[in-house]
This record gives sequence, C-alpha cells and structure tokens, in this order.
Amino acid sequence: MKKFRWFLLISLLVFGLIFSAAGCGGGEEASKEESGKEELVIKAGTDAAYAPMEYKGENGEVEGFDADLIKAIGKAVGLKVSIKHVDWDGLFPALESGDINCIISSMTITEERKKIVDFSEPYFEATQVIAVKKGSDIKGLEDLVGKKVGVQQNTTGHYAVEELEGMKDEDIKKFPTTPDALINLTNGLVDAVVADAPVVYNYIKHNPDAGLVTITDDDFEKEYYGIAVKKGNKELLDKINEGLAKVKEDGTYDKLYKKYFE
Ligand code: ARG
Repeated sequence: MKKFRWFLLISLLVFGLIFSAAGCGGGEEASKEESGKEELVIKAGTDAAYAPMEYKGENGEVEGFDADLIKAIGKAVGLKVSIKHVDWDGLFPALESGDINCIISSMTITEERKKIVDFSEPYFEATQVIAVKKGSDIKGLEDLVGKKVGVQQNTTGHYAVEELEGMKDEDIKKFPTTPDALINLTNGLVDAVVADAPVVYNYIKHNPDAGLVTITDDDFEKEYYGIAVKKGNKELLDKINEGLAKVKEDGTYDKLYKKYFE
C-alpha cells in the first residue's frame, strides 16, 4: 500500500512537471503571437578593412560610407541597426547562419552572386584600377600578363585578373584584404594590385610615401555595389530598398558622398 502511494505521488509529480512545461511552452507561443513576429532589425556585416567604405574606428566600431549609409537607411524606415566586422570570405556563411541578416561591404552585384543572395538596388558605382609603383612599365591591363599581381581573394578585382588571357594562376597573389595586397606592392612583393578605385585612391592618399600610382583601363567594366540579404528575405530587402530610396531623395546620400569623397 505504502509503495503504491509513493508511486502515485511520484507519477503525479512527473505528470505535473510535464504539463506545466508544456503549458509554459504554449504560453510563450501565444504571447509571441500576440505581440506579432520577432522585431525586424538590421544586422549588417562588413569586411571593415576597406577605407573609406568600411573600417574600424578608434574605438573598434565599424565606420565609413557603408556604415553611415546603412544607419541612415535604418533610420529612414524605423529599423534598429547593428554593424559588425566579418572577414570577406566569411560574409556569405555569416548571412547563411543568421549571424547577420545583410551584407554592406562594397559588394559588387554580379550574376554569380545573385545565385546565392538577393541584392538591393545599386547604391554605388565603382570600377577597378591598377596600382603600381611609380616608374613601373605597366601601362594597362594587358601588361599584367607575366607579372605578379596582388588581389583581395574572391573579389571582382581577383576575377578581372583571372580572366586576362595568358594570366597564370600562380602569378595571381591572393590576399585576405585589399590593404594586405597594397602593402605587398609597396614592399615590392608584387608588381601591381587590381582593386576597387575608391579604396586604392584612399590608400595612396594616406600613404604618400608608398610611391604608388594608379592606372585606369577602359576594359574594366563598371561595377555597382548592392546590399545583400539571404535569398528570399523579401521583407528585409523591401525595407532596405525603401530606405535607400528615401535617403537618396532627401539629400542624406549626397551628404554622405560629400563627407567621404569630396
Ligand atoms: N567590390 C569588390 C567585390 O565585390 C570588392 C569588395 C571588397 N569589400 C570589402 N569590404 N573588402 O568583389
């Protein structure tokens, strides 16, 4: 009899626990439903070694044109914005895992990338330039064949060099960041660097002693930067496009452009 009573008591306790746990779960769901879905926020990722587009300021926070732009976009549509540094090659994985929900990293809209992510309307026009040491015999894109060319790996600069007829892969020196490539040009480890114009110009401006000059070539296609979201994240993409249109319209975009490029 005694044994039976204990059994009953324990069973009741166990049942009680299970039921209250289930009840709790249900309650949580109900309250989530009541308050609507999770709050939409902008969690941006960027490779912050790309001044003046994105770089780490003195306090370690991400600053730059892209940082200001995404903050302005968030403000225009009433979304909170956070920005964190993610290495260039880690950006798509971070988007995939949900660690970030958008990329604003001077990322060129390309057909290949459009298969993996969805892009906003273009927000910036850029092109590649060639950086060389003063006095170099490299005068254009064709002259890069047979030379050692530094690039930031998996960027459009890298792809442009790869496509050059006669270019050997072993002559393409791939660096994790664009400044890395430019430092190695300064040190003479590579003969040229191909990278986005705004970043190369900025580097030369701030490193006048590096002795670097730039060469433009009409064979470089125009490129357009876009903000990337996970494929199918229409809710966020619509907001970003709406915000982008607003900041372009109300003069905020022009102000930012002047701040960084004039
Ligand atoms: N525009 C180039 C590309 O899309 C390079 C961008 C690199 N951005 C950066 N933050 N490192 O491939």
